[in-house]
Amino acid sequence: MRALTVTPLQANTAEVRDVPDPEPGVGDMLVEGIALGVCGTDREIIAGQYGWAPPGRDRLVLGHESLGRVRTAPSGSSFHPGDLVVGVVRRPDPVPCGACAHGEFDMCRNGQYTERGIKQINGYGSQLWTVETDYAVKLDPQLEHVGMLMEPTTVVAKAWEQVEKVGARSWFDPQRVLVTGAGPIGLLAALLGVQRGLEVHVLDVATDGPKPEVVKALGAQYHCAGMAEATAKSKPDIIIEATGVSSVVFDAMASTAGYGIVCLTGVSSVGHKISVDLGATNRDMVLENDVVIGSVNANLSHYAAAAYALAKADTDWLARLITRRVPLEHFSEILHAQPDDIKVVLELN
Ligand code: BGC
Repeated sequence: MRALTVTPLQANTAEVRDVPDPEPGVGDMLVEGIALGVCGTDREIIAGQYGWAPPGRDRLVLGHESLGRVRTAPSGSSFHPGDLVVGVVRRPDPVPCGACAHGEFDMCRNGQYTERGIKQINGYGSQLWTVETDYAVKLDPQLEHVGMLMEPTTVVAKAWEQVEKVGARSWFDPQRVLVTGAGPIGLLAALLGVQRGLEVHVLDVATDGPKPEVVKALGAQYHCAGMAEATAKSKPDIIIEATGVSSVVFDAMASTAGYGIVCLTGVSSVGHKISVDLGATNRDMVLENDVVIGSVNANLSHYAAAAYALAKADTDWLARLITRRVPLEHFSEILHAQPDDIKVVLELN
């Protein structure tokens, strides 16, 4: 079968290659890969800046935003041939730390977790893949063309859960959320905000292309004149930051009202230094009881929440997030983001 593989930490080594078909172990399903979402982490791995091959190997099969159809499932499992499924990204660390021992591997404390397609386990970027039934989630059949949005939705389901848990430390009745960045994470965070009945605002730099219309179609308000204007108009109780751009991250931290909650979800590149008045920000955060939370990855409860959110969403709206579909053999077309890209998807079969 064909698979998208890479030598981690070496730039420009990504290639679609023939690799042996995977053999399902006891408790595993064999899945026909339908499509794979591509994100910034994949591009970082391809650029040689991140990623780990499985122990004893040079190359890693890329891909963590999966979508496939079950070919074989262990008898007695809740999965059947033909089911639409996604595979979970992270596996608990082997020690395990307290968080992993409690099923909260997204909160792993010792960093020894592994991740499909990212850290020491082959990913889902192949025409066939196997997955443990305990780490697979069934999707509503109507999500056949958009189900690869599940993994980024799990990331925002977790981010929202974290915001709500922090909010619950005191009286909390948020009305408005500002999402910074109208990429897939930002737009899916906005979707979950709308589903919660909040007034949702989205800030991005794009003045044309698909993003403004996609935001409006969600019933949210689009801003593109910078953070000062967006916060003045939206007066956010919550900011979900999904750009990872240093200046936006800092402005988000400095822009909330009293009891503001900022959730950072963007994995930024390092080395972008900006000059800031941390004293003023500290003062505001203390005097306003503000909180800044970092949030990454997702555990099984977030997969369940994301499956529910996607099943409730308008599939035509979800389909608008997928702006390019590239056949596996043309994978080099995914390497560079194009101006109107929201989510780029590799078609595996
Ligand atoms: C993935 C997460 C993962 C993180 C760090 C992100 O792109 O969505 O699941 O934990 O990268 O490796």
